[in-house]
Amino acid sequence: MDDTGRVSSNGTPWWRGAVIYQIYPRSFADSNGDGIGDLRGIIGRLDHVVDLGVDALWLSPIYPSPLHDFGYDITDYTDVAPEFGSVADLDALVDACHARGLRLLLDLVPCHTSIDHPWFVEARSGPRSAKRDWYIWADPRPGGRPPTNWMSAFGGPAWTLDPASGQYYLHSFYPEQPDLNWRNPAVAEAMHAAMRFWLDRGVDGFRVDAIAHAIKDDRLRDNPVAGAGRSVFGVDPSGHERLWNVERPEVHDVIRGMRRVAAEYPDRVLIGEVYTPTELLAGFLGHDRDDEFPLAFNFELLHTPWRADALRLAIERSEALTPTTTNPTYALSNHDQVRHATRFGTDAVRLAALVLLTLRGTITLYAGEEIGQTDAPALTGPAHDRAGRDAQRTPMQWDATPRGGFTTGQPWLPLTDPQRRNVAEQGADPTSVLSLYRRLIALRRSIPALHHGEQRSRLDLPGELLGFIRSADGERLLTVGNLGATFASFTLGGPAAVVAATDPRREGTSVDGAVALAPNEGLLLRLPD
Ligand code: NOJ
Ligand code: CA
Repeated sequence: MDDTGRVSSNGTPWWRGAVIYQIYPRSFADSNGDGIGDLRGIIGRLDHVVDLGVDALWLSPIYPSPLHDFGYDITDYTDVAPEFGSVADLDALVDACHARGLRLLLDLVPCHTSIDHPWFVEARSGPRSAKRDWYIWADPRPGGRPPTNWMSAFGGPAWTLDPASGQYYLHSFYPEQPDLNWRNPAVAEAMHAAMRFWLDRGVDGFRVDAIAHAIKDDRLRDNPVAGAGRSVFGVDPSGHERLWNVERPEVHDVIRGMRRVAAEYPDRVLIGEVYTPTELLAGFLGHDRDDEFPLAFNFELLHTPWRADALRLAIERSEALTPTTTNPTYALSNHDQVRHATRFGTDAVRLAALVLLTLRGTITLYAGEEIGQTDAPALTGPAHDRAGRDAQRTPMQWDATPRGGFTTGQPWLPLTDPQRRNVAEQGADPTSVLSLYRRLIALRRSIPALHHGEQRSRLDLPGELLGFIRSADGERLLTVGNLGATFASFTLGGPAAVVAATDPRREGTSVDGAVALAPNEGLLLRLPD
């Protein structure tokens, strides 16, 4: 055990095999009735995450922001937005987490600031401003056209004209999020200083936002028309390959610089949000223990249909392509995507949990998935997020009251269905989705084969069954689930104990010979020697 007493230490870093719980701070718990979740609210609900059994929290951005991109547009990297509390509250949260053996990760958004950040305000004051070169400016092309054909990830040109200077500035996302110029060493220094500000306060690391966008072609070349068969991750809606503005080779030096800062402190982690196909992800993980990201999200499961063959392929690709210095990092849901209870259907959430939480790797959960939370089906009232992501950001449902125990005031977004799904009821019900999450996470912690064992697919299963075997120290566990619409069966060569099951009545029993699984049913079996 390490000094937190919660992570078994066999020389491997704490984050390998860990379960990380993502909190969208606005939507987790409101402590003061203003309808917006806050840091004190999170402190008040830490028992829930401790009961769940996760290793770490990751908070989406808590910094001051005019909310054009809901906190991913920052005006001060070393402060806390007043609606979330204060730096002192963050200190209190760090202490409260550490006292309970939890780690705390923040979101680092290094590629762009808010348009209202003092750095950009100064940069925009004129071409001779001392901060001008902290951002990326270019003259129009003939006819006043933008300097390149690059597109913003949210659609439209990646350039906005600054009428005062007659130059365009670059933004990989909204126009209110001007891109920082990472070719300027002063930018790197400022961002490293922001990292140290939080690391000095005991924060255990960062999820690093949109990193593939950090560096662009210095000659500002136009992107070429995409060739056939290219990945959808790399092509703009305009049909141009994102060749010169995303994933430039120099980005690896940016990441190495961040890694060096993290390495000044013991046991800190960086999780890269690279958003690239699995084939390219390995290049961001580096080949040495201290090179580039310790972890980087594999987002394939967020885009893979609920089919055994598709999932098996995604998982095997990740297994084959992840360097041995680390492990895959999976998520099924986050604040940017339709929740998986909605994508796969609520009938699938138990099996999805069984699969996710028995996979080799670091697992990220998105707050609410542990109660089977869906996206809000029909949100009325004004849209907050321009990119249409309100439905997956609705508040956490703590109890069955109309405001779900989230707030005593008017919630900033309406709750989805607290009467139907909430922590209080599910926590008291051993047959609930929440109880299954708790059991699976506890098993993952206590069984070395699940926590860090090897993994290989079981290939002799009928097409609608997904199965993989985890093993360590002679112990073998089989995860098997039926993703098809009808009963399916497979054969076991000897008796196996049911360690966990989507149907709790099967837990503690044993199976042998032909085993039938109902649609969306899954078992975690301890295989005989
Ligand atoms: C990824 C974040 O997860 C998303 O919410 C944000 O809009 C973009 N990066 C831009 O920062
Ligand atoms: Ca509040």
